[in-house]
Amino acid sequence: MRSPSVFSLLLLAPCLAIAQSSTASSVAAQFTVPASADDGVTLLPNVADPTAPNAQVKCPGYTASKVSTSSIGLAAHLTLAGAACNVYGTDVHDLDLKVEYQTSSRLHVNIRPSHITSQNQSWYLLSTDYVPAGSQGTGSMTTSDLTFSWANTPDTGFGFNVTRNSTGDVLFSTTGTKLVFENQFIELVTHQQENYNLYGLGEVIHGLRLGNNLTRTIYAADVGDPIDSNLYGSHPFYLQTKYFEVGSDNSTTLVMEQLDTTEATSNYTSSTHGVYFRNAHGMEVLLGANNVTWRTLGGSIDLYFFSGPTQRDVTHQYLNVIGMPMLQNYWGFGFHQCRWGYQNWSVTEDVVDNYARFGIPLETIWNDIDYMFQYRDFDNDPVRFNYSDGKAFLQRLHSRGQHYVPIIDSAIYVPDPTNASDAYQPFNDGNATNSFLLNPDGSLYIGEVWPGYTVFPDWFQASAKAWWKNQMVTWHQKLPVDGAWIDMSEVSSFCVGSCGTGNLTLNPVHPPFKLPGEPGNVIYDYPEGFNLINATEAASASSASQAQATPTTTATATSSATSSSSTTSYLRSTPTAGQRNINYPPYVINHVQGNHDLAVHAVSPNATHHNGIQEYDVHNLFGHQILQATYAALLAAIPNKRPFVIGRSTFPGSGTVAGHWGGDNASKFYYMYFSIPQALSFSLFGIPMFGVDTCGFNGNSDEELCNRWMQLSAFFPFYRNHNVLSANSQEAYVWGSVIDATKIAMDVRFQLLPYLYTLFYYAHTQGDTVMRALAWEFPNDPSLANADRQFFLGPSILVTPVLTQGAITVDGVFPGLVEGTDTYYDWYNKSPVAVPSRKNTTIDAPLGHIPVFIRGSSILATQQMAMTTRDARNTSWSIIVATGVDGTASGSLYLDDGESLVPKATKMVSLSSSTSQNGTLSLKVSVSGSYTSLDLALANVTFLGVQSPPSSGAAVTINGRAVANATYNAASKVLSVTGLDNALGGKAWGGNWTLTV
Ligand code: NOJ
Repeated sequence: MRSPSVFSLLLLAPCLAIAQSSTASSVAAQFTVPASADDGVTLLPNVADPTAPNAQVKCPGYTASKVSTSSIGLAAHLTLAGAACNVYGTDVHDLDLKVEYQTSSRLHVNIRPSHITSQNQSWYLLSTDYVPAGSQGTGSMTTSDLTFSWANTPDTGFGFNVTRNSTGDVLFSTTGTKLVFENQFIELVTHQQENYNLYGLGEVIHGLRLGNNLTRTIYAADVGDPIDSNLYGSHPFYLQTKYFEVGSDNSTTLVMEQLDTTEATSNYTSSTHGVYFRNAHGMEVLLGANNVTWRTLGGSIDLYFFSGPTQRDVTHQYLNVIGMPMLQNYWGFGFHQCRWGYQNWSVTEDVVDNYARFGIPLETIWNDIDYMFQYRDFDNDPVRFNYSDGKAFLQRLHSRGQHYVPIIDSAIYVPDPTNASDAYQPFNDGNATNSFLLNPDGSLYIGEVWPGYTVFPDWFQASAKAWWKNQMVTWHQKLPVDGAWIDMSEVSSFCVGSCGTGNLTLNPVHPPFKLPGEPGNVIYDYPEGFNLINATEAASASSASQAQATPTTTATATSSATSSSSTTSYLRSTPTAGQRNINYPPYVINHVQGNHDLAVHAVSPNATHHNGIQEYDVHNLFGHQILQATYAALLAAIPNKRPFVIGRSTFPGSGTVAGHWGGDNASKFYYMYFSIPQALSFSLFGIPMFGVDTCGFNGNSDEELCNRWMQLSAFFPFYRNHNVLSANSQEAYVWGSVIDATKIAMDVRFQLLPYLYTLFYYAHTQGDTVMRALAWEFPNDPSLANADRQFFLGPSILVTPVLTQGAITVDGVFPGLVEGTDTYYDWYNKSPVAVPSRKNTTIDAPLGHIPVFIRGSSILATQQMAMTTRDARNTSWSIIVATGVDGTASGSLYLDDGESLVPKATKMVSLSSSTSQNGTLSLKVSVSGSYTSLDLALANVTFLGVQSPPSSGAAVTINGRAVANATYNAASKVLSVTGLDNALGGKAWGGNWTLTV
């Protein structure tokens, strides 16, 4: 419940609504919660308020005293350095500072109130039960690459610096700024160089490099992908790269400007570090021209500094704290088709059949909320999606090696207690086990989502996790689904406050807004650029859509009230000594929803957990916790198999149990572009299993966009086409050219699946990234600091997609090519890429062609395309050796059964090649491990970039025994060895071997 004054208004509106709602005289009135129930109050975000007090001016800062140092860190007491400012809360007078040198590359700085008691602990401390913290390792002050130094300065009081010893670089400096620590507001300001390069701080739709003028609000929100706003996930982590120019005397000068990508770059170096603010409160990170300001609505200062000095090091160091990404099922890397609007089993199965009919591989078919009985979790519609037909359908899918994944929403329907036929067992079970969030008065917190009035699991209760598991196991017995798609987990609610309290008999039947495709809700927009290619149709389309946009009065349209006044009045709240105002915190973050009220379109901050924790303090965790609970639940339903979970709201550590899809984008070329920086950011966040709604979610896609997008997403780990209700169909078979383009890109993807899986193995075991920014692979090239229209898949594959409409070429760089350090080969014809005259070069990319390049020095073990990954795993192997500038190459391959949580057997294959002075090529394969099921035949080996025919003629030997002849193509510089199927007894990885040509 919110404050009574607000809530009483809300209650009034539903009563009016029911009086007015009636669809036809023969049909009973159907109640709909009015849209105004989700309005909230109007607040002015602090960053947009010129009159807002500046805490740096008003507050006194702190003074450090009682400093004690040890070999592993230091502790100190911080005392408010003057009169309390109480600017956005109540100043905390006494703080404890603790600094730990946890490892040689990780420093932990914690500042928390000295007075914490068990009553107010959750205000300040994020329990390690929910979010892991880095613990003291082998680090010490003497072995650390980081140094913490501090000072009390006369004007601003306590400030600290974190310096990297090996480079002498100050990575973080609050010196000369004031620390502000109040019960609802913490501020920490750090200095920055001009034009600093910061990445991360998600989730946000933005270019990869965040720029120097951006407010990054972090507060989980159910909202359709606005640019530069807060979104589903909360990732208070950034990576920063500094570039230096190296002088002839080896001196280094910090690069302060943005270099462009036209010229070759040499004589540069870089260093990278990371910062993680372990805090789950609503937060803002203000990126200013010369400083970065962290502001949170509570919690403690719990900062981790990672010294790098490369991106790879930083990511390893960060993931060591939050957890390594899980190893996904092999089948998860197949192609997934989904949409909102597959109305029954036969429509769903038709889609599967159509994919087969057109010869396009389909691994997994998904259902959205359509399958549910009145949108209730764990409950199939008995007619359209009944269990017996469903079981038979799933059995057909499974027999072909295909899979089925349904959506599961975060909210649980609350039945009408006066209507016995409305009973809903999952609710009863959860209620009986105290599994749902409460109001402050101990009653159930009842919001509203798709099914009507709903409750929300309280993941802090062990009983809630057990209840969720039971629901999953019971449901799975009726329908053996293969994974779970977790939605609405921010956690979304379509009304402010506990709007269902006292209203359960009203049983709302429709969300308080128009669904896509309903009259008055314009999603029938014509595809982007339609007017460019269809001028006449565009004119009539535009008048038609205007007619459609004219609001119509419907039985459920009960809210009105838009203000005509030109001045807006804002609710302003001021701090009350010692108390928190969690509904309207005095500091207003620039939250994307409604008028910035934290309760809009989400469970309100005053919802209360059974253990007393208020939602205000843990809002950003819900999405993470439901993923953890779902992982455990699926593991119980499908024992010993890696659970397949894709979720919407995430937090540091979510990658340990799930992947993430960038939900609710739009069918626009620019959203296709944004998918790249979004994916790269999630690489940094430790959630490599990422992909977006391919071909676009909101609005109508079209042939050209879908053609390009089906090709681009084929290089993302999570490859799923998903579409909103009522938009035009966009399955890959809908347009002729998209069928062809999809098969071309899928063919590459399938060949690369063993490589992709191996990348995940390295992500899982050591924290490597899968999709990589050019800057991470080429850290000494400052011109790549902002490059996010191309990406690497692992170290070896460069993807340069077309991202603009109508284009038939694309400009891209081949890092290191002009500089002479690297070579690239065109994936399709395997020829070396000619060294261009300028770095940024134009590449042919007609519709249906996605430029993909193999980076020299790589060895790829590939398999072939099949209709499913199961069948692809049974195809013979090939090896591509992409020779580097020095004539060598290497690669590796990880193999297991692709699904066991703890595989009984695994195999690791190392591949390396070299060219001797007389031109003899040798490829050395060494294997370790006992997994044998993928010891299939080796079909061929292809050497790329072979400068001249082999001196030994064309004779190929394996372990000294002649096995075949090679053919050499002087034009493409490709040397092909085929007919190897029997050479290794039909077992490519049966033992060590060396091939020479
Ligand atoms: C919101 C999700 O982001 C979207 O993918 C889904 O289709 C709708 N909810 C309906 O369930």
